[in-house]
Amino acid sequence: MGDNEELIRRMNEIKWFHSIPVRDGIVTPGQDNSMDKLGQVCLPEDLTGKTVLDIGAWDGFFSFQAERNGAKRVLATDHFCWSGPGWGTKAGFELVHETLNSKVESLDIDAMAITPEKVGKFDVVLFLGVLYHLQDPMGGLRVASEVCDELLIIETHVDDLHRWKPSMVYFPGDSLNNDDTNYWAPNVAAMKGMLKDLGFSRVEVVYPKRPWLRYAWPVRFLSSIKGMIQRRESFRQTINQGRMSFHAYR
Ligand SMILES: C[S@@+](CC[C@H](N)C(=O)[O-])C[C@H]1O[C@@H](n2cnc3c(N)ncnc32)[C@H](O)[C@@H]1O
Repeated sequence: MGDNEELIRRMNEIKWFHSIPVRDGIVTPGQDNSMDKLGQVCLPEDLTGKTVLDIGAWDGFFSFQAERNGAKRVLATDHFCWSGPGWGTKAGFELVHETLNSKVESLDIDAMAITPEKVGKFDVVLFLGVLYHLQDPMGGLRVASEVCDELLIIETHVDDLHRWKPSMVYFPGDSLNNDDTNYWAPNVAAMKGMLKDLGFSRVEVVYPKRPWLRYAWPVRFLSSIKGMIQRRESFRQTINQGRMSFHAYR
């Protein structure tokens, strides 16, 4: 693509989610703090020779990052936000793809419709910000598991952080963040249990860095106060909630 002015003009016609660096000093104007999230999901910096599947890619920040990190093949998939009832379109993905001269492949397919027969199997599967949107979270993890040969990376909303026994909280209507597409938030024991039952031998919490500290009551208390101020959420709702990233290994 030609000059920066033309790129910015085209960028401004799109409703973005991700903040993707596309050229020196030019980042797509998404509401998502994508570079911070990259640190939180701990995407391997060296993906040389790996195949990567991004489930729920939206504007494709993580797909393009996997390509930057050396992946030999990346498949970005989405449906809800590309052509379904979701909050965006595929226009952002396509503009970044063109600007970066990317070889990332794409397929419009719903997360729950993914099978090894339809997409093949991949070394690394990204399941970021998708789990809590699914009515059947165990079914969603099974879908991701069945197309994953080595490493499944999951980033999700979590709840019940004070409970050591496996549990999952259901959010009726729009009771989680005023969004009626949010359904379920597991706790850590539930995530580990489900992933082990799906055949992963090792499951690690990679974010936050010291999970035992994150569960500690004073930390949850402070985080809840922050949620009340920044997101106008209730103390009772947020006290046991957070975001976490997991790496599950075959
Ligand atoms: C919060 S965005 C996360 C985007 C990206 N993976 C990330 O982590 O930045 C949720 C993504 O899940 C996709 N998705 C898949 N199935 C969905 C469903 N049933 N309801 C809502 N979103 C769904 C959306 O299209 C969207 O791309």
